[in-house]
Amino acid sequence: MMQLRDCHNFNDFRMLAQKRIPGPIFNYIDGAAEDEKTYDRNTKSFDDCDLVPSILRGTESVDMSVNIMGQKLSLPIYCSPTALQRLFHHQGENAVAAAAAKFGTMFGVSSLGTVSLTEVREKYRTPQCYQFYFHKDRGLNKAMLESAKAAGVDVMMLTVDTITGGNRERDLRTGFSIPFKLSLSGMFQFAVKPMWGINYLTHPKFSLPQLDDHIDMSGGALSIGKYFTEMLDPTMNWGDVEEMVKLWDGQFCLKGVMNPEDAKKAADIGCSGIVISNHGGRQLDGSRAPFDQLAEIVDAVGDKIDVIMDSGIQRGTHVLKALSLGAKAVGGGRFYLYALAAAGQQGVERALELMQTEIERDMRLMGVKSISELSRKNLRFR
Ligand SMILES: Cc1cc2nc3c(=O)[nH]c(=O)nc-3n(C[C@H](O)[C@H](O)[C@H](O)COP(=O)(O)O)c2cc1C
Repeated sequence: MMQLRDCHNFNDFRMLAQKRIPGPIFNYIDGAAEDEKTYDRNTKSFDDCDLVPSILRGTESVDMSVNIMGQKLSLPIYCSPTALQRLFHHQGENAVAAAAAKFGTMFGVSSLGTVSLTEVREKYRTPQCYQFYFHKDRGLNKAMLESAKAAGVDVMMLTVDTITGGNRERDLRTGFSIPFKLSLSGMFQFAVKPMWGINYLTHPKFSLPQLDDHIDMSGGALSIGKYFTEMLDPTMNWGDVEEMVKLWDGQFCLKGVMNPEDAKKAADIGCSGIVISNHGGRQLDGSRAPFDQLAEIVDAVGDKIDVIMDSGIQRGTHVLKALSLGAKAVGGGRFYLYALAAAGQQGVERALELMQTEIERDMRLMGVKSISELSRKNLRFR
């Protein structure tokens, strides 16, 4: 039987996660919007670009650290904020935060996180970002910013590619929603993963603390679907965000920028970073892959703002390609989520350790001893 020690790469974690968690939950992580073309392209885009190594530049040690938005990260990849982590493994956000702290990198807590951002801020000393959704109720937005500030969140990350929900057809088929509304076959898939069920029932009750403090989510009165359609503001615009940046008065980034004009506006309204992202292919299918779009955006704003990218990263070489093209750091979702689902904190630690080992090995093979030595000179597009 496959174990954590048999996991040597992204696909191994994915396979182990699939074996261990119920199908509807696995498919929520694994799936994306509509035909999943964008999801597919996100990783394939790296194959159109080759690394060109330099030789005879040996070094004792390799420095993988980067600085983004005032934070020093020991690794150039961080754990991007994702929803519902305690559904994937009962340790949830605690596992991800603990592993990120161990490797000295940043982790994000989602607005739809299942552990309170204050709790993880108090327990783990490593850069933490808070992923924010913009509500119709401005008072609520203000209160949420204030409590994140008081908790000591380092970076505010406003997600801007979810102005409406993506069309995730795998979830429609399984009936995945919060609260659960499983289809019959979906229920069957829970029944065949009893360990997941036992852990789910014997650990603290599922909750969404970032929202529970402000909104009554108890008793399933408000589903996540309703939260998106009734609470979030479909009219959010640049003026709203400019106000939010002022209110936060600290490190602020937009997650989900794809267009150089938007990147310029983000710099103009005082953001310190942008994350080029298509939400791991989960929103607009048919949209461009971040790696394909990276050079254009770096050329437009790379000297004014920290340009970061996520979506599709599975390998150390993907990280090095993005950094060579001009990204300051990269984020990842599924690379640590499958590992979390497969084995909790130990799993996430192993995923980060594999990334660290790959990035270090690849830097040595490339002939560079620090991230700043990477440049477009060591890339060729086919
Ligand atoms: C299961 C899952 C849940 C996610 N939840 C959120 C979320 O709550 N907020 C958010 O801004 N992004 C969310 N994302 C997007 C990630 O932060 C990130 O942009 C994406 O996963 C990157 O693509 P990758 O999975 O190919 O690395 C989620 C992604 C996944 C896979």
